[in-house]
Amino acid sequence: MDLFEIKGPVQLEGSVNISGSKNAALPIMASTVLAPGKSIIRGAPNLADISVLAKLLRSLGAKVKSNAGSKLRIDASVIDNPVGHYDTVRKMRASICILGPLLARCGQAKVSMPGGCAIGDRPVDIHLRGLRGLGAQIHLENGYIVAEAPHGLAGTDIFLGGPFGSTVLGTANVLMAATLAKGTTVIESAACEPEIADLANCLNKMGAKIRGIGSPRLIIDGVDSLSPVEHTVIPDRVEAGTFMAAAAITAGRVELKNCRLNDMMAVVDKFSGIGAQIEPTDNGCVVSRDGPLKPADITTQPYPGFPTDLQAQLMVLLALADGNSVITEKIFPDRFMHVAELNRMAANLRKEGPSVIIAGVKKLIAAPVMASDLRASAALVLAALAAEGTTIINRVYHIDRGYERIEQKLNALGAKITRKTI
Ligand code: EPU
Repeated sequence: MDLFEIKGPVQLEGSVNISGSKNAALPIMASTVLAPGKSIIRGAPNLADISVLAKLLRSLGAKVKSNAGSKLRIDASVIDNPVGHYDTVRKMRASICILGPLLARCGQAKVSMPGGCAIGDRPVDIHLRGLRGLGAQIHLENGYIVAEAPHGLAGTDIFLGGPFGSTVLGTANVLMAATLAKGTTVIESAACEPEIADLANCLNKMGAKIRGIGSPRLIIDGVDSLSPVEHTVIPDRVEAGTFMAAAAITAGRVELKNCRLNDMMAVVDKFSGIGAQIEPTDNGCVVSRDGPLKPADITTQPYPGFPTDLQAQLMVLLALADGNSVITEKIFPDRFMHVAELNRMAANLRKEGPSVIIAGVKKLIAAPVMASDLRASAALVLAALAAEGTTIINRVYHIDRGYERIEQKLNALGAKITRKTI
């Protein structure tokens, strides 16, 4: 098991290339199941989660080759085992995004029901409601979702909203299944995240007929078949936001290349409000900070609101702000595993239901801490860059699931991070 030893404080300077989006790449990889033949997906980051999905696709019958990690060749000519095993789904709950494509391609699918994880319960009821709306018969059997549509799927009007708004992977599943359904499907309260727009654009390149891309109402005219595709995934807005936070917390100056600010307006607005300067460039931006960090009240929301995947990183910035802040989590109300760990580094954070009250402190102090989930771990890395002393972060495999070579990228900007295997 690896740990990070991080010496702080540092001031980051230089330029960093943002990788392709993990959360766009995963459903796009799953979508290749819909198109018999050889697809090429470019820009997929070289991450543990991408390898898990590649392995899952192979177990379904597809052939997957990766070239230096970023170019994936997926041959989905044969899909003869429509089963997502527990062993895979328990490693990565995003494996559920295979359910819709398998059902549409094979008329049946058996996928392990994902459990909860460090950030909450994470049910999939809305995925199932949407697929049932398309005519699938679904029941649970020994922890597996068993879905059948022996006579094919049929388009219909489906409302996909839930208690916490839209669902990203639920939208992906229903959208992918609807591309091959008979007739027209209207998905109301669809997720508007850029990763869903990227998936929809990729599906249209395969021959799907999807309108309303990027809006909460997706209209899908079903087609008889889809063809293989070549597609480059969008840049990772969460990785970009994490590097923005790294520049801001260290009062540094970092150029982000391959970053789409248009996908990040809420992030740019909040980071600017707390004292970061963000200047657009041709293919990204330059992030810097001169003055003090200012407090703010922030609520996470579905896109285009402030993303839950940057909540933990923002909290570290506000922990060092000149005053009191409140962060309210409206997507995953329990996603606060980082709070206790940050308090071990001398932050002053108090959880109150789905909110955290943050009393800004003058400095953070290094401590041994434990990574709990992907974004919480990224927040600990940020805290360590600014803290006095040497922070030890245990269980960094969580970070490796979603950040490509994070220590190498940060060290190239002046961080002092050593990876150690214990
Ligand atoms: N929800 C339901 N029922 C469902 C589905 C979702 O109640 O059937 C609830 C969830 O419990 C949550 C809310 O709806 O309260 C939104 O969840 P969503 O389904 O949108 O999450 P997801 O699709 O499982 C994706 C990302 C997450 C990201 C969320 C929210 C991928 C692979 N994962 O998850 O990314 O936090 O959307 O934006 O795309 C991460 O990258 O660290 C990560 C956790």
